[in-house]
Amino acid sequence: MFSSSGCLFCDLLYIIPLITAFYFLRQYIRGGQFKENVRANGKIAVVTGANSGVGRALCEELNKRGAKVYMLCRDEKRAAQAREQLVENGCNDSNLLIQTVDLADFSSIRDVVKILLTEESHIDILINNAGLLGIPQFEKTKDGVEKTWQSNYLGHFLLTELLLSSLEKSSDPRIVNVSSIVHPLADSIDLDYVNNPKNYGRMKAYSRSKLANIMHSRELSTRYPKIKSSSCHPGNINSNILSTSGWIFLKDIFAPIFWFCFKTEMDGAQTPLHLALSQHLKGNGLYYSDCVVVEESEKARFDGDCVKLYEQSRQVVHKWL
Ligand SMILES: NC(=O)c1ccc[n+]([C@@H]2O[C@H](COP(=O)([O-])OP(=O)(O)OC[C@H]3O[C@@H](n4cnc5c(N)ncnc54)[C@H](OP(=O)(O)O)[C@@H]3O)[C@@H](O)[C@H]2O)c1
Ligand SMILES: *[C@@H]1O[C@H](CO)[C@@H](O)[C@H](O)[C@H]1NC(C)=O
Ligand SMILES: *[C@@H]1O[C@H](CO)[C@@H](O)[C@H](O)[C@H]1NC(C)=O
Repeated sequence: MFSSSGCLFCDLLYIIPLITAFYFLRQYIRGGQFKENVRANGKIAVVTGANSGVGRALCEELNKRGAKVYMLCRDEKRAAQAREQLVENGCNDSNLLIQTVDLADFSSIRDVVKILLTEESHIDILINNAGLLGIPQFEKTKDGVEKTWQSNYLGHFLLTELLLSSLEKSSDPRIVNVSSIVHPLADSIDLDYVNNPKNYGRMKAYSRSKLANIMHSRELSTRYPKIKSSSCHPGNINSNILSTSGWIFLKDIFAPIFWFCFKTEMDGAQTPLHLALSQHLKGNGLYYSDCVVVEESEKARFDGDCVKLYEQSRQVVHKWL
């Protein structure tokens, strides 16, 4: 019937190695996992983009390890849904707090910081995770900055600057920037260039912001050596990252293929989690993938450029500092 040979044993001979191969391939795709048995009891963590994907998975892990987690989200309803799901998954309800912030709006960043600084005497972990990819057309925020650049980079720059003094009060402060493997595609990170509609491209805008994330980490680690500042590529993840691009339908059409070929959101959270909690971080200002240090693109390595980006970013946000 099913087998031409009628020999069950012969079929198993093929099927078992095939399943085994698929299993190992899948484990390989899932990538490096954070295996240290570290608690985060009493730690105060702030995670941006907390209602979806990597951010939500990070909130779950940090909370389950004992941290008090501030979920920074731009949409109250989506945030409440995510929080509900995390509590269902076993998170401690009283240690999950939602704060709304739109990174594409400097005034809202200053407002949320005011609340955080009033509520907490210090902050231990800041994870700059929120990100969007693929806005179809060039768009400016109400602050006059190209939207991808502000959402993924400049908003986080301001948030970080405003929380630095609070982070410095922690005994083991960490800043983690979620960057991406596509950062080497960036052509320029000069604001005038980024802000010129002629230079807009979905992937270009994204890769520029992600290059800036790494350079920001490097420069922070120089300026604030006490704070462990790292950046990472979280992996290629089956998340909602394409939701602004109009391509998210691909996720449904190719659901089984996406599931197999990409990391789960929790797998994507492993490297940032490692950077937030590991007791064995090697150095400061480094770039990671799959929980190990990897080389960032050469473009991110010119210290002079990192200084320039930092200074330029401070100038742009200066009236909010
Ligand atoms: N997915 C991948 O394969 C991949 C690969 C490399 C790097 N990354 C990076 O990983 C990070 C997390 O992405 P993900 O895959 O988890 O995607 P995701 O599921 O789309 O999550 C992104 C989060 O960022 C939030 N966000 C976007 N713009 C915002 C803004 N202006 N203000 C506040 N929040 C904003 C989104 O909020 P809404 O739900 O309200 O839109 C969402 O919560 C991003 O930085 C991304 O660049 C992802
Ligand atoms: C949840 O967190 C609160 C506040 O930190 C704590 O008092 C409580 O014991 C925790 N509950 C559980 C079940 O761990
Ligand atoms: C993270 O990126 C922000 C901007 O996106 C930057 O201001 C900050 O210095 C970076 N921090 C680290 C540790 O990379």
